[in-house]
Amino acid sequence: CLDQLGLKRESREGEKERAMYVYVYDQCFSSNNKNINFSCAVKDYGNLQFEEFADDEPVGVVKNAKAVGSANQRLSEAVHAIKKDGHTSVMLGGDHSLAIGSIHGHAAAVGELSVVWVDAHADINTPMTTETGNLHGQPMSFLLRELRSKTPTLPNFSWIKPCVSAKNLVYIGLRDVDPFTQTYVYTCPTKASSKVTVTLVCYRVQKPIHLSYDVDAVDPSVTPATGTPVIGGLTYREGLYVTEYLCQTGRLSAVDMVEVNPLRGQTEQEVQSTVGTAVDLLLGCFGRQREGNHAPDYQLP
Ligand code: ARG
Ligand code: MN
Ligand code: MN
Ligand code: MN
Repeated sequence: CLDQLGLKRESREGEKERAMYVYVYDQCFSSNNKNINFSCAVKDYGNLQFEEFADDEPVGVVKNAKAVGSANQRLSEAVHAIKKDGHTSVMLGGDHSLAIGSIHGHAAAVGELSVVWVDAHADINTPMTTETGNLHGQPMSFLLRELRSKTPTLPNFSWIKPCVSAKNLVYIGLRDVDPFTQTYVYTCPTKASSKVTVTLVCYRVQKPIHLSYDVDAVDPSVTPATGTPVIGGLTYREGLYVTEYLCQTGRLSAVDMVEVNPLRGQTEQEVQSTVGTAVDLLLGCFGRQREGNHAPDYQLP
């Protein structure tokens, strides 16, 4: 996977080590991304193994609660350990419900976080408001302190402690917000949908940043191979700008890249465009420059 991401394992001599830790959930990146002239130390922790439950009956309408609760508990422990080792965490998904464990483990290790949620969807349904029953539409409801009293405890969810304050949550790219969750989203003090706003918000909030990037934030003409595409999304350039800006803050502490699903591509070109964009977004998070990655002491001739 790392080779496919185009990230080299060794760092350049004298370069500060910046490790990424990579997990893969239910899909694998399959890009063949050549000619990336970009060096970044990476440690691949491999795929996490998740338990399956034969008796995972719906709770009300909510599907797969036991499996999702248990998978996220493992993921939370893994991200916690990685952060305690002092590294930047990268979680590759897979379903956006994985943000529960990723953000939980991150916060357990470093304390208060700013969460930048880049997505067409707010993913803040509670088990009571969800219409689809899909937990990928609900992760923020389990993480926000303000929604604690609104989320019943599902099987295998009792370990979760809400760890994010609404004032530290920024949304970018929203365009499909479910009616019952609109009050949650729009009472969030730092909500945002444009890059200009996020620049201001991220500049002001001096906390480690957790970027949770749902590839469906980008327009489906660019990233069609995803489960819930919505037209009218970020352009490639806008999507990339967010990662480049966050990299420059120097406070990017963990990244999720989720809902990349090659099985949803209608053609090889759709798969390549989606996966290639996800790779570019990750590289943007780690400092790849669009105008070229010249050596630090590069001089014009
Ligand atoms: N709002 C819808 C739901 O609650 C769609 C959520 C889509 N989220 C995602 N991570 N793909 O099911
Ligand atoms: Mn999903
Ligand atoms: Mn989405
Ligand atoms: Mn999402």
